[in-house]
This record gives sequence, C-alpha cells and structure tokens, in this order.
Amino acid sequence: MLDQKVNLAGVELKNPIVVPSGTFGFGREYGQFFDLSELGAICVKGLTPQPREGNPAPRIAETPMGILNSVGLQNPGVDAFVAQELPELRRHDVKIIANISGNTPEEYGEMCEKLSAAGVDMIEVNISCPNVKAGGLAYGTRPELAAEVTEVAKRHASVPVMVKLSPNVTDITEIARAVAGAGADALSLINTIRGMRIDVKTRRPILKMNTGGLSGPAVLPVAVRMVWEVHAAVDLPILGMGGVSTGADAAELMLAGATAVAVGTASFADVYAPVRVRDELSALAEEQGLQRVSELTGAVRPWG
Ligand code: FUM
Repeated sequence: MLDQKVNLAGVELKNPIVVPSGTFGFGREYGQFFDLSELGAICVKGLTPQPREGNPAPRIAETPMGILNSVGLQNPGVDAFVAQELPELRRHDVKIIANISGNTPEEYGEMCEKLSAAGVDMIEVNISCPNVKAGGLAYGTRPELAAEVTEVAKRHASVPVMVKLSPNVTDITEIARAVAGAGADALSLINTIRGMRIDVKTRRPILKMNTGGLSGPAVLPVAVRMVWEVHAAVDLPILGMGGVSTGADAAELMLAGATAVAVGTASFADVYAPVRVRDELSALAEEQGLQRVSELTGAVRPWG
C-alpha cells in the first residue's frame, strides 16, 4: 500500500492534494458531491479584515485551456469566516488553510492572530492577488515588502505561515529568498498570471476590470518551471499549483519540487477533479514502485 501522507511545514496531510484558495469557496457546494475528508487540505477563499463584494461583473472570461478571473477577493470577512464557516469545515477530518489578504502589514498581523486563535491549521499569506489595487501584487513583486509582510505575519501567527507567490515577476526566486529570509514556513506557487481578453465586436475588454488572472491547464508549464526554480533556491516545502487536472500533472509538480499539489480550476469542469487527481497520482506512484508518494518530491532528473 502506498503511503500518501506528506508533511507541509509540520502540518501532516493525509494525501498531497489540496484545493486552492478561490476555487472551492468554503467547501459547502463541493461537500454535496464528495466527502471533504478525502482531501489533504482545504485552502479557503481569500479572507480580508472586512467583508468585500469583489469587483464588478463580468469577472470571468474563458480562454484557450483556462479562465481569466478578476473576482477581487469577494469574501464575508475574517470574523464571519471564524463564526460561520470554520465550525462547518471543522466537521470534516481535513486540514484547513486560511488564505489572507490585507492592505497593510498590520492587517495581515491582525488576521494571523484571529485565525491562529480560531484554530486553523495553517495560514497562507496572499501577496499575489492580481485583482486588487492595494496589497496583493504591490507586496508580491517587491522583495523588501514581501519580507515585511511575512515578518509581521510570522510574529502574529501561532500556526505555520505559507506565503503565496506571484508568477508576475522577472525572477520568482528573488521573492522566494526574501520571504524565506523573513521566516516563512512554506511557499505556495503559482498564483494566476495577469492576462486580458478583448471582445473584437465591441472592442471592449471582456472583464470589467480590463485585466485578470489566468489559471487552468495553459499555465501548467509555467508552474512547473517556477516550482523547480524555487525548490532549487530555498529550503522550504512548496505547495505547487497551476493548471493541474490529472495525476500526471500533479506528479510533474512534485518532481519539480512540490511537497503537496493544489487542484483548482479543474474543479470548475469536474467537481470530482481533486479526488480523481489524488487517485491517479497514487496509481502512477504505485506503477513506479514507490512506497511513499513523497518520494516524488524533487526527484526530477534535469539534463545538463
Ligand atoms: O480576485 C481574486 O479574488 C483573486 C485572488 C487571488 O488570485 O489571489
């Protein structure tokens, strides 16, 4: 029997499959289709100090092999999450990761305190949302600001802190090193890639915000390359994500260096995608004669 457990910065996941922030809400809808305890972890929709309605519609556009979104961090706010959503999620035997976004380092710190006290298993510090004016990419593209937010989050959190990196930079290892130096316990990557679509008849951008973040199978090679680069640059566990829709895709990210893998946009086309990917990944690892799925992590054999 394959051992599917993986250890993400001290948080033991029963299998490496995580559902990433923004693709799974707070799990209520997907829980009608499968037992959420089947997953390694659920990362909830990005939380902010106050409720947010998000950006005006249209905020989703289809693309070849993916989607573009400009949701804008719609969420009920951290207090409503703690009061209403977390108790529901806690009914399942699954690790809970809270994704947070703030306008200032202090806001990140306050949310880390509340969420640690509320008993989440891990906090994912989002410095990479491409759809908000303050916070988000403003922090995730500058090493010194990324480090400052990480340091404040670490000071206020009593659970492991994972920092979510943006692919919208020239050298992702520069940001990875900065947040590692500031004490991050783990890294997650990649968030979406900034993109744009235009309706050729109206000559208007399809998204009301003009631009958005690209996810889905089209971004997988970018994610694999960036996970590989970051794994070589810093000694931190990585939650790899970006375009995973099969077990082989998940294996690619693990070979590149990911400890665990998130299955996101694939869930919009197939609600069972996370559990299917988990089963396909196990079958692939067993076919390769592995005892533990974790043996895949970083096992790529690069040329030259
Ligand atoms: O717009 C959004 O809610 C997306 C958030 C993110 O990509 O982090």
